[in-house]
Amino acid sequence: MPLVSPSLLASDFSRIGEEANRAFEAGADWLHLDIMDGHFVDNISYGPDVCAFVRKAVGPQPFLDAHLMIERPDHYFERFVKAGVNLICFHVELGDEYYIHNTLKRIREAGVKNGIALNPATPFEKVVPFLGEVDLLLVMSVVPGFGGQSFMPEVLEKVKKAVAWRSENNAQFLIQIDGGIGPQNAQLCKEAGVDILVAGSSTFKAADMAQAIADLK
Ligand code: DX5
Ligand code: ZN
Repeated sequence: MPLVSPSLLASDFSRIGEEANRAFEAGADWLHLDIMDGHFVDNISYGPDVCAFVRKAVGPQPFLDAHLMIERPDHYFERFVKAGVNLICFHVELGDEYYIHNTLKRIREAGVKNGIALNPATPFEKVVPFLGEVDLLLVMSVVPGFGGQSFMPEVLEKVKKAVAWRSENNAQFLIQIDGGIGPQNAQLCKEAGVDILVAGSSTFKAADMAQAIADLK
């Protein structure tokens, strides 16, 4: 059964602490924090202070998964560590191999899990050099920047390649998918080998969030 990580981007920001708790009470395994800077993606969401507030609201135990869609994750990640997130994922499109290796290493050294994300247009081969040193691979199933977009089924080919690479190389990373996930495509994602479903609109905007999470699983 996959884990479900509801994306707080689709929540009611005027009561974000209660919304974070509502997700865990409804059976969320993780909570997904989408960080956007208006440069790497064409939207601005929230930053480390809001993440720290969410941590305070949910208490020390729940797993907070930060998806950085920002330039210079090497410069900013420490602020998110300090805010209390458990995992920091950033995009492979952001730098050369040295930059990516080094930033992944520094995130782990700071005591949290690391992850690498790839956009729908980025080929799987681009992340291969890093798969031996990540805790999470995030396969984007929409062009990042906004919630509520349509799922792009063609990215499942990359999930299948990642599953094969992981078993051939005895690697340990988890595979996460993000964008347009709902009951209509969760089964396809599971069959392809996804470990964690990120879902914003289909969870936070559902009439019954617990039922929506159960349906995804
Ligand atoms: C997109 C974000 C996603 C998004 C998911 O840039 O990374 O996490 O909020 O939202 P839905 O599930 O509504 O596509
Ligand atoms: Zn995300």
